[in-house]
Amino acid sequence: MARRKTKFICQECGYESPKWMGKCPGCGEWNKMVEEVEPAGIGRRRAFAHSVGSSSVPSKATPITSIETASEPRIQTDLNELNRVLGNGIVKGSLVLIGGDPGIGKSTLLLQVSSQLAAKNYQVLYVSGEESLRQTKLRADRLGVSSENLLVYSETNLEEISRTIENVSPSFVIVDSIQTVFHPEVTSAPGSVSQVRECTAELMRIAKTKGIAVFIVGHVTKEGSIAGPRLLEHMVDTVLYFEGERHHTYRILRAVKNRFGSTNEMGIFEMKEFGLEEVENPSEIFLEERSHGAAGSTVVASMEGTRPVLVEIQALISPSSFGIPRRMATGVDHNRVPLLMAVLEKRVGMLLQNQDAYLKVAGGIKLDEPAIDLAIAVSIASSFRDKPTRPTDCIIGEVGLTGEVRRVSRIEQRVQEAAKLGFERVILPQNNLGGWKGPKGIELVGVSSVSQALQVTLGG
Ligand SMILES: Nc1ncnc2c1ncn2[C@@H]1O[C@H](COP(=O)(O)OP(=O)(O)OP(=O)(O)O)[C@@H](O)[C@H]1O
Ligand SMILES: [Mg+2]
Repeated sequence: MARRKTKFICQECGYESPKWMGKCPGCGEWNKMVEEVEPAGIGRRRAFAHSVGSSSVPSKATPITSIETASEPRIQTDLNELNRVLGNGIVKGSLVLIGGDPGIGKSTLLLQVSSQLAAKNYQVLYVSGEESLRQTKLRADRLGVSSENLLVYSETNLEEISRTIENVSPSFVIVDSIQTVFHPEVTSAPGSVSQVRECTAELMRIAKTKGIAVFIVGHVTKEGSIAGPRLLEHMVDTVLYFEGERHHTYRILRAVKNRFGSTNEMGIFEMKEFGLEEVENPSEIFLEERSHGAAGSTVVASMEGTRPVLVEIQALISPSSFGIPRRMATGVDHNRVPLLMAVLEKRVGMLLQNQDAYLKVAGGIKLDEPAIDLAIAVSIASSFRDKPTRPTDCIIGEVGLTGEVRRVSRIEQRVQEAAKLGFERVILPQNNLGGWKGPKGIELVGVSSVSQALQVTLGG
């Protein structure tokens, strides 16, 4: 029997060590080392065998000018939202990782995409390690999926999966999920760091050498990142997260890494009985439940990738009953709230230090661009003064530490979106005015400081 070797692997970065360590020397994280047993000698040999693009023919260094630059052929699915997040369709030979909370709809999304591709005469192999063929069929019936080109395969042994890919030669392979598949040569349990890493490397090799687009589903940990080593995210071409709130039917697909496109794009879907449906006008859904005339509520036009989205920002400011006031924010960077409150204190003279502040972006969406600053500041002031802003106002602008309102990008698109949804007035940075004209029927008010913005929106 082969001699067994024990090693410790960091779940975060994949660092290997012969002995356990509290702090990983690779990434500096604590308590991430897990023990794994492997027959001696296999690890290194396999690591070489699986390095991407490995083949029996040695590769040679080539001048960059003599490399052909035919653009990546892309395949469009019927879900435009998904195409956009992927950077305009699926790239052949790419490896895409989709992570998300349990039950969020990963399998549903991929089964729908499989069926659409199968309908376009592409051969699709859907490998399910989590569900039986019957379960997958039940879901397929619910989604109305039926095509001869869609092959469903319930298997967890990666060698068998490779063999089937060899025999079937599909254009697309879906592996649901990477935590359930195992490579028989790696002795640790499915879902362990070595298994996940080895299996992904093997799937990467298959994708690159055969030009097959491979989608893998990854479970997420309690903290919300994809389970297994961080390394997994480095290995694949694209990492998508499928998010949403349990109590909402809306689901958001966003790219956190994309070797073939921007990572700013986001796709919005609604989970219905017959599957996921695209949401073409997200602003409408985010403003659906807005209460008109409530103090603390403002609307901002935020860019999500190339698309402007109107979102409601709500603030609640109330006197603090404890010594240290609370500052809470959901949907925006929580550091921005104290920062903007400090600007309001210092530059506008608003006494907020003994107030609790709660901030929320309605609809469960996350915003991370500076152009939402002014809307946050006005929301806070509106709640503090208990004075509502006009429900037909849209507020855009970045706020600097001296209380100045700074120019933002793509102002025309934002204003157009506001006009489309019936807003009558846009409060925007003074520096953004000039050289362009807003759509008819919308008033543009340029402001250069926070206090000026408060004057316009809340009065004296
Ligand atoms: N009949 C139905 N009507 C509406 N929605 C449904 C119906 N059946 C299932 N769903 C939705 O589908 C979700 C399950 O989707 P799916 O199995 O694709 O999720 P998943 O992300 O693959 O989950 P897991 O992590 O368990 O693999 C449920 O949480 C529910 O929201
Ligand atoms: Mg699933």
